[in-house]
Amino acid sequence: MVDMIESVLHEDRVFKAAVGEGACFSSMGDYHAMCRRFEEDYEGTWADLARTHLRWREAFTQDLDDSNPPFYRWFADGALNVAENCLDRHVQAGLGERTAIVWEGEQGEVRHLTYAYLLEQVCRAANVMHSLGVEAGDRVVIYMPMIPETAIAMLACARIGATHSVVFGAFSSSSLRDRIEDAAARLVITADGGARRGGVHALKPFVDEALSEGCHTVEHLLVVKHAGCDVSWKAGRDCDWHSLLAESSPECAAIALPSEHPLFILYTSGSTGKPKGIVHSTAGYLLWARLTMLWSFDYRPDQDVFWCTADVGWITGHTYLIYGPLVCGGTTVMYEGVPTYPDAGRVWQICERLSVSVFYTAPTAIRALIKAGDVWPNRSDLSSLRVLGTVGEPINPEAWMWYYRVIGKERCPIVDTWWQTETGGHMLVPLPFAMATKPGSAALPLPGIQVEIVDEEGGKVSHGGGLLVVTKPWPSMLRGVWGDPARYVETYWNLFDGQYYIAGDGARRDGDGYFWIMGRVDDVLNVSGHRLGTMEIESALVSHHAVAEAAVVGRADDLKGEAICAFVVLKESRVDALTLRKHVAAEIGPIAKPDDIYLVEGLPKTRSGKIMRRLLRDIVMKRDIVQDVSTLEDRAVIEHILATPVQ
Ligand code: WTA
Repeated sequence: MVDMIESVLHEDRVFKAAVGEGACFSSMGDYHAMCRRFEEDYEGTWADLARTHLRWREAFTQDLDDSNPPFYRWFADGALNVAENCLDRHVQAGLGERTAIVWEGEQGEVRHLTYAYLLEQVCRAANVMHSLGVEAGDRVVIYMPMIPETAIAMLACARIGATHSVVFGAFSSSSLRDRIEDAAARLVITADGGARRGGVHALKPFVDEALSEGCHTVEHLLVVKHAGCDVSWKAGRDCDWHSLLAESSPECAAIALPSEHPLFILYTSGSTGKPKGIVHSTAGYLLWARLTMLWSFDYRPDQDVFWCTADVGWITGHTYLIYGPLVCGGTTVMYEGVPTYPDAGRVWQICERLSVSVFYTAPTAIRALIKAGDVWPNRSDLSSLRVLGTVGEPINPEAWMWYYRVIGKERCPIVDTWWQTETGGHMLVPLPFAMATKPGSAALPLPGIQVEIVDEEGGKVSHGGGLLVVTKPWPSMLRGVWGDPARYVETYWNLFDGQYYIAGDGARRDGDGYFWIMGRVDDVLNVSGHRLGTMEIESALVSHHAVAEAAVVGRADDLKGEAICAFVVLKESRVDALTLRKHVAAEIGPIAKPDDIYLVEGLPKTRSGKIMRRLLRDIVMKRDIVQDVSTLEDRAVIEHILATPVQ
C-alpha cells in the first residue's frame, strides 16, 4: 500500500503569511494557543465551542461518548435544529434583510434571497413535505440542479428532521435508483431540468426511469419547474413544488432534534462494492461547518461574499455552499451553469460583479482556466478577492503559482484544504494570515484535529511517506455507513484495531511538519476532484452483455488529475470503445466514462486469479515494468497488452 506513494515532490518555495488585520488567527502564536487549549482539555474545548457557536434547544451535559468505539457520539443529550441555526437565529438577530444566497443562472439571471425570504420558503417547503407524509426520521432524496430550491429543500428536511440524501444531478438513473433504494427514501425532490452550456439538461426523465423499477418506498415526487422542459406527469405521485409551496403556510416550527440525529446521507465511492452512504450528524457536523468557515477562510459574515463553486451534490457543496456560510449568517454565491460558459471569463466576471471576497474551487477548474489563458482573468477587476481556497485533489505547484499570482495578485493567501466526505469539514489547512504557505501542501491540522502518518504496522512515521490517519474522534466525523455498520468498521478502523481512523490517503511530512498529500492508497480514483471507485467502473463495464472481464486503473492527467483507463476483454468483438463509454455513462454517469480503453484478449492475473492492477498502472503510466512478474499466470498476456492500441 505505502509503496504506492512513489513520487516525492521537490517543492521548497515558501510564502510568508499575508497580514490580515483582525483575522481569526493572525499568527502562529494564535494557532498554537488554540491547539494548546485542546491539548489541555480536548473534550471540554470542543464542548465550549459547541456551546458558544450553536444555538441549543436543550443544553447538553455529555461531550464525547466513547463507550462504543468506533461509534462515537458528541453532545448526545443535547437538542437543536440545523435550519433554526442557519435561518431563524439570524432573522431574530435582525439580519432578515441580509442576502443569504445570491444565485446566478447561466443566462445571467440573478436572484437575491434574503434570510427572511429563505426562512419563509423553507417553512413552506417543510409544510409541503409534512403534507406529503414525510416525518422526522424519514429519508428524502434530492436530485436537483444548482438552484436556490435545492438549498430550500435541504433546509426544509433539516427543519422537520428528515434526513436528506442529495444525489449529484449528473448521475445516471441507475445510480439514482441505487441510492433511493439504499436509503429507502419516502420522497424524491427534483426539477424538470437545469441549465448546461447554453442548453438544458433534463432531470425528471432520469427520476422517472429510476422509479420505474423498485424504489417501492417512494410515495411522491416533488418537481420544481425551472428549466421549461416538457415533462411527463404521473398523477397521484408527482406534485408541483411552486403551486404546493404557494398554498402552504409560511410558518413551521423547527423541531428540536437530538445532536446525533442524522442530518444527511451522502454517497461516496470506496474501493469495494457500491458507493456507501456516509452518515453525518446534526450538532457535530454543524459545529465544524461553522468553525471551519470562520477559521479556514477567516470568513467575516458581515463583509464577505463567499463563492464555493462545488456542486451541491458533493460534500464540498453541502458544507461550504450551504451549511457553512448559512450557519455563519453570511452571503453565499450559487452559480448554475458551466464555469466556462459562454467563455472562460465567466468565473472572473461573476467575482467582479458580485464582489466575491472568498473564492473556493478545485484544482481541476484552476487548470482548465489556466489553459484558457490569462487574458480572461485580466479583463476583470479581481480586487475584491481576499482569500482563495482549493479542495478535492492535490494541487500541482504550477496551478498553485498561477492562482496565487494571476488571480490573487500575490495578495491573497491560498488555502489548500484537505478533507473528505467522511470528515464533514476541513482537516488540514494553511490558516490564512497565520501560516506560511508552500505550493502543494495542505500545511497543518486545524486546532482540535489530531492526525499522524503511520506505516503499515501503525507505527508513527516522522519523515517520509505513510498512511494518513486521525488519532482522535472529532465532532464532525462520519457516524457510519448507512445501513451497514460492519462496513464502517471494516473500511475505516479495522487495519489498526480501531485505534485510528484511516483516511485512505498517503501523505508525508516535511521538516517544518507540513503535510503533503500524495493521493489515494486504495482503488479509488480522483477524476477532476471527484471520487470514483475502480470497482464501480469495472462493474459497469461488465454489466454490458458483450464484456467478459474488465480492469480499471488511473493514470496521471494534466487537466483532470487522474484519467480513467479500462482494460476490457470482450465476449464478442463487435462492440467498440464508444459503445462501452456510453454504457458506463448510462450506468454511473458521464464523469465515469473511461478516457482510455484497451480491448485486450486477457488480463494479467496472479496464480490465485487476482487481477494485477499495479502492473496495468505501470503500463498506462508508460513506466518500466519493474514489478516481479514471476507470479503471472501467463506472460504472453502482457506482451499482448503492450501491443494493444489505446482507443
Ligand atoms: C482528495 C472532497 C489533496 C483525497 C472534500 C481525499 C485532496 C479525497 C485534497 C476526498 C487536497 C481532497 N489535497 N487531496 N486538498 N482534498 N483530496 O470525499 O484523496 O470527495 O481522500 O471529499 O479527495 O474526496 P471527497
